[in-house]
Amino acid sequence: MLRLGNVEVVYDDVILVLKGLSLEVPDGKIVALLGSNGAGKSTTLKAISGLLHAEEGEVTDGAIELGGERIEALPPEQIVRRGIFQVMEGRRVFEDLTVDENLTMGGYTRGDRAGLKRDRDLCFDYFPRLRERRRQIAGYLSGGEQQMLAISRALMARPRLILLDEPSLGLAPLRVHHGERPHRARRRSREAAQQRRRARVLPGQRRGEEKLQGSQVLPAQEALVVLIAPG
Ligand SMILES: Nc1ncnc2c1ncn2[C@@H]1O[C@H](COP(=O)(O)OP(=O)(O)OP(=O)(O)O)[C@@H](O)[C@H]1O
Ligand SMILES: [Mg+2]
Repeated sequence: MLRLGNVEVVYDDVILVLKGLSLEVPDGKIVALLGSNGAGKSTTLKAISGLLHAEEGEVTDGAIELGGERIEALPPEQIVRRGIFQVMEGRRVFEDLTVDENLTMGGYTRGDRAGLKRDRDLCFDYFPRLRERRRQIAGYLSGGEQQMLAISRALMARPRLILLDEPSLGLAPLRVHHGERPHRARRRSREAAQQRRRARVLPGQRRGEEKLQGSQVLPAQEALVVLIAPG
């Protein structure tokens, strides 16, 4: 279980971005975080992964717990060791390496060769395009293919928790239509989610910002927190 309780995040000692954010990700569940541009989705994920420190950001109040252990004050390398893996906003692949080499990098902390091969095949089953292009340089892949690779690289690390920022970038069919409001987006997300997914909508800073702004900006408006293994 991942639990955020009343989390507050401040950048540069003065810019208050998150205030009183609470959410829970039960074992084996997926939680979708929805919100307008600037609502704080990426900030929430960075607070969990510890990457805020690199941006002069700080969790100034509240608690982040993974499996009952407080992690909000830990450095990012300690958080990674606990199995939390973040796929950053934008496509983050090693552009000069091949698809295969990118996947190898994803699993480099693991020693189990058989497991690595199995997981690589699993990624190729999820994304057959990657299998076809496994010897190509990642920088030459299409945008959507690079996103498939970024997600696959994260899976290769066998993380306990995956944080996907803008997971549908260049990938998923659009699920929210032009001008749809958050409560509708939330309902649709809930419907699509059935029982395994949950959605949270972060409030916009001003009322006008609450309205989702159109299909072309949608990929920037969702983030997913996926807790894979129990604990
Ligand atoms: N390093 C930083 N220093 C100062 N302010 C920041 C920093 N990073 C983000 N912010 C501010 O924090 C707020 C939330 O940003 P964040 O990137 O978390 O939003 P988001 O919900 O991910 O938006 P988007 O949908 O555009 O990706 C914004 O107002 C942004 O300007
Ligand atoms: Mg963002």
